Amino acid sequence: MKISLSILSCDYSDVKGSLQNTFEAVDFIHLDVMDGVFVNNISFGPAFIASLRNLTKKPFDTHLMIQYPDKYIERFAEVGSQYITFHVEADCDIKSTIQKIKDCGCKAGISIKPTTPVENIKEYLPYVDMVLVMSVEPGFGSQPFMPIAIDKVKELKELKEKFNYNYLINIDGGINLKTMPLVKDYLDVAVSGSYICNADDPVEAAKKLKNI
Ligand code: DX5
Ligand code: ZN
Repeated sequence: MKISLSILSCDYSDVKGSLQNTFEAVDFIHLDVMDGVFVNNISFGPAFIASLRNLTKKPFDTHLMIQYPDKYIERFAEVGSQYITFHVEADCDIKSTIQKIKDCGCKAGISIKPTTPVENIKEYLPYVDMVLVMSVEPGFGSQPFMPIAIDKVKELKELKEKFNYNYLINIDGGINLKTMPLVKDYLDVAVSGSYICNADDPVEAAKKLKNI
């Protein structure tokens, strides 16, 4: 199991001091970009991500919770994202957005909110490198895991095996030692934020989650 660390709930004034060691204990750094339109929250943008790029060589998995992803893909590619994930519910032409991400040299991810069925992304599955299933309503960290996501990651794994697709199956929201066992059999990657960032020992917390 690969772990992607969401820094949304971290201490932004001291990312280096509080999380640099933890970056080395995980596989990806998950960066939650929010525009106040697609979700009811505003987080950070490319300048902040660029400043983190000096802290680790781990791949950046940038999660765009923004209404118009097309407008900003180049910017998020330039600051060092390896994966750029956008929402099928966003305002864009899905296939050309996937292509744009790839043209920028990044891997393309597509995400679905808890109420969006896998059916809505089926036609794009052959073209994406990651599928991010939201297990909370996007916008905030520290929300409880929504079990509606379990069947979706299961279905994505069945489709991946049936059609020999290449995407990584990822889940985002409320992942901790209790919820990971519910989904781990179907995942390649799991995002975890508050469980790791709020732990007394974040490195140990990340290791425990990885080893479930
Ligand atoms: C929610 C974000 C998640 C979230 C994960 O909109 O996309 O990445 O920060 O944090 P936890 O693990 O606290 O749910
Ligand atoms: Zn996220």
